[in-house]
Amino acid sequence: MDKYINKIALVTGANKGIGLDIARQLGTNGVTVIVGARDTGRGQAAADLLRGENLNAHFVQLDVTDAASITLAASTIQAQHGRLDILVNNAGINDSGDGAPSGASIDAARRLFETNFFGALAVTQAMLPLLRVAQHARIVNMSSSLGSMAVNGDPANRYYTARLIGYNASKAALNMLTVQLAEELRGTGIVVNAACPGYVSTDLNGHTGYLSTDEAAKVPVRLALLADDHVNGKLVDACGAVAW
Ligand SMILES: NC(=O)c1ccc[n+]([C@@H]2O[C@H](COP(=O)([O-])OP(=O)(O)OC[C@H]3O[C@@H](n4cnc5c(N)ncnc54)[C@H](OP(=O)(O)O)[C@@H]3O)[C@@H](O)[C@H]2O)c1
Repeated sequence: MDKYINKIALVTGANKGIGLDIARQLGTNGVTVIVGARDTGRGQAAADLLRGENLNAHFVQLDVTDAASITLAASTIQAQHGRLDILVNNAGINDSGDGAPSGASIDAARRLFETNFFGALAVTQAMLPLLRVAQHARIVNMSSSLGSMAVNGDPANRYYTARLIGYNASKAALNMLTVQLAEELRGTGIVVNAACPGYVSTDLNGHTGYLSTDEAAKVPVRLALLADDHVNGKLVDACGAVAW
């Protein structure tokens, strides 16, 4: 635990679901966790909950689709902590208008991209100056097997039938961000990876998933606490690297 005692992490969408357990597990490892949440009441309650578990947790208001909110969150973290060691781009949505490419709502697909891709890109850009101050910063993008081209094109894969063009394409775009950013930042000490948590029981899927949020948080937390840069620019699940 002492190993990570000086590390500072921001987890977006950390008021519930997998994000809350990522924050909890980072906190359990001694990391100071900043709980990012778009709703002040829900975010503050989550930070209070973690503090009640003797974890070092703080709340910052952060709507990943709101440029002003992102800018203010970055300047708050700068003022309170001066740097960021870990950024977990976890905030994400699904959309009931999503579906197969032949009929999905275009508006739904745009909404999905706005949060799942542009939100992560905007938060990353805003936090990069703080991450560059850290010695060995780590960025973890919460992706999904559904964002893998290989999975979507393999009839034998368990996720093959999940034909959600907006969600899956937004995660594929997040995967591209992961690869490009990892290459752009290679040599700076900043390592960038994407995590596939598995099919997890959360509000996102009406609790149809079979994994607990506690189990699901383990992959992103492992990537967030990577000691070296041997895994960089990868899509990773509980079993290791996943094909793009
Ligand atoms: N569940 C799965 O099986 C699964 C599988 C693969 C990947 N993932 C990914 O894992 C991540 C977490 O999902 P989850 O299953 O834990 O879902 P969840 O329980 O619905 O949690 C989603 C979180 O994202 C937040 N959020 C949504 N839009 C936001 C915005 N504009 N700004 C800031 N926060 C926002 C939500 O905040 P509010 O409470 O305010 O809505 C909530 O805290 C997502 O990126 C998801 O795509 C999930």
